[in-house]
Amino acid sequence: MNIVKVKDYKALSEEAFSLFKSVISASSAPVIGFATGSSPVGLYELICYDYIKNGASYKDMTTFNLDEYVGLDVSSDQSYIYFMKHNLFDHIDVNPKNINIPNGIAPDIEKECKRYSSLLASSSIDLQILGIGANGHIGFNEPNTPFTSTTHKVKLTDKTIQDNSRFFDDIEQVPKYAITMGITEIMNAKKIIILANGKNKAKAVFDMVKGPVSESCPASILRRHPDAVLIADEDACSLL
Ligand code: F6R
Repeated sequence: MNIVKVKDYKALSEEAFSLFKSVISASSAPVIGFATGSSPVGLYELICYDYIKNGASYKDMTTFNLDEYVGLDVSSDQSYIYFMKHNLFDHIDVNPKNINIPNGIAPDIEKECKRYSSLLASSSIDLQILGIGANGHIGFNEPNTPFTSTTHKVKLTDKTIQDNSRFFDDIEQVPKYAITMGITEIMNAKKIIILANGKNKAKAVFDMVKGPVSESCPASILRRHPDAVLIADEDACSLL
């Protein structure tokens, strides 16, 4: 794993944008895996800026999101499709037909997982953007998820519900289940960028980089990826 240590969140977002842009420029039809959460928001602002101010086009980009809560309607401002539209997709010229995200309100969630998984199997992600959970999760692959997992329904841990409650009015409103891309599918991406900032990520970053490669820290598998880059600020690197 390549580690790029940066001063702060602004530098992290700029570094991520520069890597993202080189992947986008290298293909006429780039396929990008996106994450939600606070870590990539600065990167998404730079992509929007690139479209609005520099006239860059993203019309030939195909997107796959990592995950979605089960049971939140598209119109809910806590759903991940809403997050992506609000922070990125509505501000650039990506073709809505090329946007892929698990459907958390599908009538049959198991069937939806299979649909998403076979879509991923017939695609090839050029760049996957990841954040890391304070417990080492990637996507919603919580500790002890098999490294062999593909897209599946997951019961969120208390720690993740607690961490994500900051986006909700009340912790009771945080969904208990989600659909997530599996670890195998994340590892199939040609290139992976992991973004980590803040002191609350220091332990997870330490476990990912220095701990054993173990399902108890899902992100540790990224050390076995041939082209994974961790971009982390000083706080997130403070235990390394
Ligand atoms: C989001 C996702 C999660 C987050 C992780 C970090 O789609 O899959 O794994 O990347 O929980 O979240 P933030 O960036 O909010 O600290």
